[in-house]
Amino acid sequence: MNMLLHKYREHEALAEAAAAKKEFDQVVFHLTRAAAFCIELAKLSHGSLSSRYLQDANEKMELAEKLRGRKNIGHAPSTMDKSVPSEDSAVSSFLLKEKPSIRMKDVVGMESLKRRLDEAIIMPYLHPEKYRKKGLDDNSGGVLLYGPPGTGKTYIARALAGELDCPFFNVDPSQLVDKYIGETPKKIAALFDEVRKHPQAIVFIDEVTQLLGQNEAIEKTGAIEQMFRETDGLSKSSRGFMLLMATNYPWNLPAPMLRQGRTRDAIYIGLPDAPARLAMLEHHLKGCKLGTEINLAALGDRLDGYSAAEVAGIVRRAKEKSLLREIQLETDDEPVSGADMETSLSEVRPASSKADVEKYLAWGSAHQKR
Ligand SMILES: Nc1ncnc2c1ncn2[C@@H]1O[C@H](COP(=O)(O)OP(=O)(O)OP(=O)(O)O)[C@@H](O)[C@H]1O
Ligand SMILES: [Mg+2]
Repeated sequence: MNMLLHKYREHEALAEAAAAKKEFDQVVFHLTRAAAFCIELAKLSHGSLSSRYLQDANEKMELAEKLRGRKNIGHAPSTMDKSVPSEDSAVSSFLLKEKPSIRMKDVVGMESLKRRLDEAIIMPYLHPEKYRKKGLDDNSGGVLLYGPPGTGKTYIARALAGELDCPFFNVDPSQLVDKYIGETPKKIAALFDEVRKHPQAIVFIDEVTQLLGQNEAIEKTGAIEQMFRETDGLSKSSRGFMLLMATNYPWNLPAPMLRQGRTRDAIYIGLPDAPARLAMLEHHLKGCKLGTEINLAALGDRLDGYSAAEVAGIVRRAKEKSLLREIQLETDDEPVSGADMETSLSEVRPASSKADVEKYLAWGSAHQKR
């Protein structure tokens, strides 16, 4: 379910990025993929949530249909989807061949997190010699990003890949875990054979509990032991190897994974505060004509409890509504209206409760790394 949600959001974001560049065939492609994931999500959900997913899929298909055949204004590179490994790709395809178009400057808010990533990953990558001279080239242990859904963990990893001109392996656990005995360790070994070919590399394991979770089915595959073998070996050889992991379920990670030397930093990625929500609204609406009735600061205040993805989703829906109107009215620059925003707001409910957030904070204080 989480993986479907992740893929759905990823295609939504890629459709939006392509729309900003007026690369309409890419928009159609990603809208159609997002709609397909949405239908799968509807099948797995119940009641009003299921109907909301279906309605969303319909709206996306409707928009895709309207945009189909529109002439590209941008130069539509066929690279967009290369950053997202396809379901059946080989291990080597975890290596991102194209830099994502986002950079750390596109990560809105989260200033202290950005400083920590700067210290933990960007600076050691940019100045390896300086770190070596001071004896600080031991990168033992990975950096874990944890927090509620939609807070930007995957987005931050993509921004990091976009920022650094560094081989970046974006590992999707569902492609590594194999139910046949012995296959998973083999796949992991093949992945790290590929990683070792590069003097410097970042390995990002998204949804890491699907690979290293405390779960009988995963434990049986031998994934955990093999991962420890590979990552401990690489860390000790003081190569420019960095391990970045993300999860919604940090409490499902086995204790040996969390000890010093394996996880050197666990960073909470939480729900955005009011200034961050306003900055996100401004960021996602940049370059968009707005109805004069819209007050973004007031809207930001009302979004308390919403994640970064939900804020982005509200804006995306409002923009889609104004775009549909633009197509229907055959006008050129239809503003996003207050009514578009209100309708979108009523369609998106926050996924995380106060109790969920408390659970993360409690786990964080019990596993403080610094
Ligand atoms: N700091 C941010 N600044 C701007 N946009 C953001 C930020 N964080 C998240 N977003 C938006 O939210 C979307 C979803 O975020 P993302 O998929 O990274 O969340 P996540 O934490 O990985 O969620 P999950 O735990 O469900 O995998 C991004 O594609 C982006 O549009
Ligand atoms: Mg994610």
